[in-house]
This record gives sequence, structure tokens and C-alpha cells, in this order.
Amino acid sequence: MNNTIIIIDYGSQYTQLIARRIRESKVYCEIVSFQATWDSIQELNPKGIVLSGGPSSVYDDDAPSAPMWVYESNLPVLGICYGMQVMVHQLGGAVSPANKREYGHAILHQNTSDDLLFQNIPTPIPVWMSHADQITELPPKFFPTAYTDNAPIAAISNGSGIIGIQFHPEVVHTPQGKDIIDNFLYEICKVGTLWTPQNFVNTSIQNIRDQVGSGKVICALSGGVDSAVAATLVHQAVGDQLTCIFVDNGLMRKEEPERVRSTFEKYLEVNLVFSESSKRFLSALKGIVDPEEKRKIIGQEFIKVFDEEAARLGQVDFLTQGTLYPDVIESENSENSVSATIKTHHNVGGLPDHMKLELVEPLRYLFKDEVREVGLELGLPEEMVYRQPFPGPGLAIRIIGEVTHHKLATLQESDWIVMDEIKANNLYQELWQTFAVLTDSKSVGVTGDFRTYGHVIAIRAVKSDDAMTADWARLPYEVLAKISSRISNEVENVNRVVFDITSKPPGTIEWE
Ligand code: XMP
Repeated sequence: MNNTIIIIDYGSQYTQLIARRIRESKVYCEIVSFQATWDSIQELNPKGIVLSGGPSSVYDDDAPSAPMWVYESNLPVLGICYGMQVMVHQLGGAVSPANKREYGHAILHQNTSDDLLFQNIPTPIPVWMSHADQITELPPKFFPTAYTDNAPIAAISNGSGIIGIQFHPEVVHTPQGKDIIDNFLYEICKVGTLWTPQNFVNTSIQNIRDQVGSGKVICALSGGVDSAVAATLVHQAVGDQLTCIFVDNGLMRKEEPERVRSTFEKYLEVNLVFSESSKRFLSALKGIVDPEEKRKIIGQEFIKVFDEEAARLGQVDFLTQGTLYPDVIESENSENSVSATIKTHHNVGGLPDHMKLELVEPLRYLFKDEVREVGLELGLPEEMVYRQPFPGPGLAIRIIGEVTHHKLATLQESDWIVMDEIKANNLYQELWQTFAVLTDSKSVGVTGDFRTYGHVIAIRAVKSDDAMTADWARLPYEVLAKISSRISNEVENVNRVVFDITSKPPGTIEWE
């Protein structure tokens, strides 16, 4: 069973980052609410607790505190920033507003040379600070272990596993942060079993078998890495009890449906229903120009096709989905978050009630990079594992205005050239997404001695970590030149190519 580090979330923008760093150190961790009960924690086999940072001040009326089991469980505790202040406040010390809000780089000096958290870490080191309050009085039995110019008490310990640090070891601006986290995990919590793709695959296969028994499972393949990895795991667990359904909506990239088909059918030998439904989607989209309307129609049509295909399989009990940990965290926190719907994202959700399917979500606790590692462990081809994200509504939201056969063909050809050149120049993996957009503009051009009046294609290439923000990629001029000349020469009716230099925000990654 996994050794788990429990991260109590106080709302810091860095909480997910703490989890990712711990996982990168090959230790399993889960983020829980400060209201979690000891009973729910105990079954995770906890080996240590991290109290995250957060925007509150311990003296706020509704400031969240730590449940008493944090101090009573005898587990090592690492309080980070607000997490340390909560600890000090609850254990009898004092926290006050600092003279100066400290934000950014600071230099951390250690007070002693034998503190386990700083074992083999030089002194002084640069660290990243972001706080307004500071510790002014230590709780009984605690002593300071490090200081900065602005924070005389920047790290504390009680000598028996309860530790606080004012700086953020999880961000890249604390270069020794990983080593400090490793010291907490390995020297202080003494974690045992490692969180590796292989261990994950073994446990996951067992869990899927326990859940599914002899039931029948379906899975919608999108062509992306998440559904591919989820399906492969379930296939390894229960073999032919799984049937995958791939709906070819006619809105995918050139040759993409065929590639998904050959990977799953020939290479992985999975039962696959390949539903060629492009006509249905195109006729449902006839005359539609509004992007949200397109998304809605595609989402609804997908559900209809999926339902029909599933009905042909007879009794089905389970639905596998490639839900990832960030989605789980987001939906668990969504009651408190005020986020506007900028674009609705229609993946497989909202299946009709009569289907009555229980969910199998083997990737529920994984981050995206972990899904890729698991994909490789399962033997999926690199091409699928490192595939760039592709939106469910596909090329329909990259064709501005009405979607027609002709426009789809024009965009598919242009997109093929973009991909071809990006891959040929070894840029594919360093870019989050790269694609062509068919704008609704037409422009005048000249080919040979003739005036032309053709489509304008836009090239979009972005770098991003999570699609929440993105920067336009500075593609080399030679690559852009080659893409431009190939598109205008090889794709009929396109006589102009432009490059999108908008970041997100204020733009979004997709044009619609
Ligand atoms: P935006 O355009 O909102 O996109 O910056 C962020 C990420 O989400 C993808 N995207 C979608 N994915 N259904 C999806 O499955 C959608 O309707 C959709 N819209 C955008 C987009 O490709 C990018 O990765």
C-alpha cells in the first residue's frame, strides 16, 4: 500500500505545485480539506502532513485552522508559510503583521548545522517568500532553525518532527526546494514504498478488477492520451470485458481517426467500435456560426451516437473516463471558487440517466505528466503518449463561421503542413499546442499572372504548462517561412498565411 503524504489545503495558488513536487520525488500524496476527518485520512496510510500556504491571516475571523489530529497523530508535520503560522498560533506562539510585506527573493541562513530538514543544504541559500504576517513568538519547545534579513524566524522546529518554514520550497525560485522537500520526505517522514508508474499500474489493475468484477465496461476514446491510458489500464485489468467506442465526428485532423483505430485494434487488440458518424455531425452543424452553439450541438450529437452504439452492446455496467487529479481538485473546490464560464468544455459528461453506468476513473489521482509516464509503462506508442491536447469539438472551433466539407478539407490540409514542419524541426514536444485556423477573411493575392481571392489561414503555436495561461511561441522565422510557402502553394484556395502573436490572457488558445 502507498505511503501517503497528506497535504492540507489552505487555498494557496501553490498547493497543487506542492503535490506535484512530492510526486516528482516519487512519493504519493493527496490534497485534502482542512475539515477532513482522521478516519478518512487513516485509510490512506499517512506518513507525514504538509500544511499549505494560503491567503488568510490567522487572526481573520474565519481563518481556517488545522484539525487536532494533525498534532495528535505523532506524524511529522511541515507547515509552509500560512501553514507554519497556523501551527504557531494553535500551539501557543504568536503571529503578527510584518513591518514590510515580503514578496520575492530572500537569502536564508541556517542557525544550526544539524537540522534534518536542511541536511546537506548549504547556507545561505536563495528562497522565495510571499507573506504579510510573521512569527514573533515561538510556541513552547520550539526553536528557530533559519532566518532571513526580514524574517528573524524563517524556519522552526520542535526537534521531534513538527517543522515550519516561511518560504516556499515548491516553487522554482527556491533552487534547493526539491532537496529540502526530499529531506522532509526521506529523513523526517522516512517514507518507504515509492510512487512509480510500475507500482501505480499494479495497484490500479487490482483496484479495477475489484471494482468491475465480471461487469461490462465501455470507454469513449477521444484519440488523446488520457482516454487512451485509462482504456489500456482497464483492458489490462479485465481484457475483453472492455469495449472502446470511437466516434469519428469528421472534425478531427487528417488521418487521425485511422491512427486511433490502428493503435487500438491492431496494436493493442482492444475490442473497438468505430462509429463513422461524420455526416451526422456535419449536417447538425449546418448553418451554425456561433462557437458555443457549435460546442453544444457537437456535445449532444456525441452523446446520442455514444448511447446508440452502447445500446448495441447489450447490458453495460461501467463507464471508464480519463478524469485527472487537477479536474478532481477543481471540482471539489468549485463550491468556493468564483470562476466565470469562458468556454464550455464538452467532453463525455451528461450521459442520459437510463444508461445507469458506474464510473471507473483509474487516473483520478494522477497529474498529466504522470499519465504520460504510465502510458509509456503500459507500452503505448510515444506518438500517442506525447500527443498535444486537442479539443473535443475539434476543427469545428478552428473554422470561424459555418463548418462545411470544403472548409474542413482546406483546414485539414493546412493543419497537416503545420504539424509536418513542426515535427520535422523537432518542435512538437516543446510546444503545448500548434495548429492552423481557417479564418472567415478572404484576401487578394497573385499567383503567376493571375489575381486570386482566397482564404486566410492563421498559425497558432503556444507554450503553456496547464492551458490556464499561455504564451505565443517564438517559432523560428525559417520554420514559419516554410509553413507559409507550403500552405499557399499546396493548399487550394489559400493565398495568405498569418501568425497569431496573442498570449492568453487576453486571448484564448483556440480562436473560438
Ligand atoms: P482555450 O481556448 O480556452 O483552451 O484557451 C484551453 C484548452 O482547452 C482546449 N479546449 C477545449 N477542449 N472542448 C475540449 O475538450 C472544448 O470545447 C475546448 N475548447 C478549448 C484547448 O484546445 C486548450 O488546450
